[in-house]
Amino acid sequence: MPTLDQTRIAVIGLGYVGLPLAVAFGRKFPTVGFDINTQRVGELRNGHDHTLEVASDELQQASQLSFADDLEALKQCNVFIVTVPTPIDDYKRPDLRPLESASRTVGQVISRGGVAIYESTVYPGATEETCVPIIERESGLVFNQDFYAGYSPERINPGDKQHRLETILKVTSGSTAEVADFVDSLYASIISAGTHKASSIRVAEAAKVIENTQRDVNIALINELALIFHRMGIDTHEVLEAAGTKWNFLPFRPGLVGGHCIGVDPYYLTHKAQQMGYHPEVILAGRRINDGMGGHVAQRVAKLMAQRGLQTTRSKILVMGLAFKENCPDLRNTRVVDIVAELRSYNAQVDVYDPWVNAEEARHEYGLDLVQSPQPGHYDAIVLAVAHHQFVALGADGIRAFGKPDAVLFDVKRLLPRNLSDDCL
Ligand SMILES: NC(=O)c1ccc[n+]([C@@H]2O[C@H](COP(=O)([O-])OP(=O)(O)OC[C@H]3O[C@@H](n4cnc5c(N)ncnc54)[C@H](O)[C@@H]3O)[C@@H](O)[C@H]2O)c1
Repeated sequence: MPTLDQTRIAVIGLGYVGLPLAVAFGRKFPTVGFDINTQRVGELRNGHDHTLEVASDELQQASQLSFADDLEALKQCNVFIVTVPTPIDDYKRPDLRPLESASRTVGQVISRGGVAIYESTVYPGATEETCVPIIERESGLVFNQDFYAGYSPERINPGDKQHRLETILKVTSGSTAEVADFVDSLYASIISAGTHKASSIRVAEAAKVIENTQRDVNIALINELALIFHRMGIDTHEVLEAAGTKWNFLPFRPGLVGGHCIGVDPYYLTHKAQQMGYHPEVILAGRRINDGMGGHVAQRVAKLMAQRGLQTTRSKILVMGLAFKENCPDLRNTRVVDIVAELRSYNAQVDVYDPWVNAEEARHEYGLDLVQSPQPGHYDAIVLAVAHHQFVALGADGIRAFGKPDAVLFDVKRLLPRNLSDDCL
């Protein structure tokens, strides 16, 4: 194993997680940021990060960081940190292909004494059962004798300028007690919030996957309450505000659950549970409720329109926001597309407007052509789907200005005071 002053790091996968990490390490250690996407490597070499997580001056400050898309540059390294995506497939099963491919890469370049640390979110066991055997096979090295493994889950929150990599306490772990100490001290050197050394890799893997599962299930409960209170004609937010005065009532709010973490990670856990012969009920029930919220919003918009004598067929509806969360260009697994699809199933003409999102990406990922600026006075209904600061700045009057005089305004995120929208979750 290297000592800290011999450490030469490779970060494999330069996305939302990998780039900030490479930049943080690149201030202290010789670091190579590696990605198979040559375009991504090119933009980073030019000092630009399209995910907007790292500013150009921060990239420059990482004086020991270089970028590569070929394996040669990785051969100098002795610590390999894997930060590739862990998505689900169309059947909501874990898709481990990027992780397996990155493990093959590590296996091809790792030498004796090397350490492979995984940061991607997985189910307990994935690192040692799936990734380590690939490295052994590719390298011919023996695990925990010639090379070692660690797992340190990432907790960053894209778009959040307050909770940054360095200011979020980091869980660490290693395949032996010595490696766990090494991994812990490596992260402690860049994380000012400190570290928590878990007792094993599987504990650290499990900790990460339940952080997001807990959020998912809690939001599902609040979404279910919102469905119930809607039927009763009670304002969910007023109920939550009242209940929230109790010291141990948790402050969750109803809404769409998108993105590649909260709506995806629970499936990693349920997949593994099923493999172990346990059929999860609460977790999957939560997933079903949360996945139904986009359709529910659209149905309520259609009903409001019908109640006003507005036809949905050939109506013009504006959906404001496509990103999976506010003030962020990230489109992955956004559930706003469920609102759009359901409204289109009523033959409505739906325009989507999102000043944060790359129009080309929206077309490529979802076949949606974004409008550049919505026409004033044009729409029969407006769905305020994402709380981008630009929409907050418009206020109710600015948003309603896109609609015809009797247009319906549905406020998914409860961005506006209740009396200024026609309905909300
Ligand atoms: N984004 C978040 O908020 C967040 C937070 C915590 C944990 N995570 C987890 O971190 C992991 C990475 O997520 P992300 O959001 O950074 O993903 P991302 O899609 O933003 O980036 C992944 C990068 O990995 C690259 N890549 C894919 N396969 C590769 C390979 N075989 N070799 C080298 N590079 C490869 C891609 O080109 C891409 O640039 C996932 O497991 C995710 O669940 C993400």
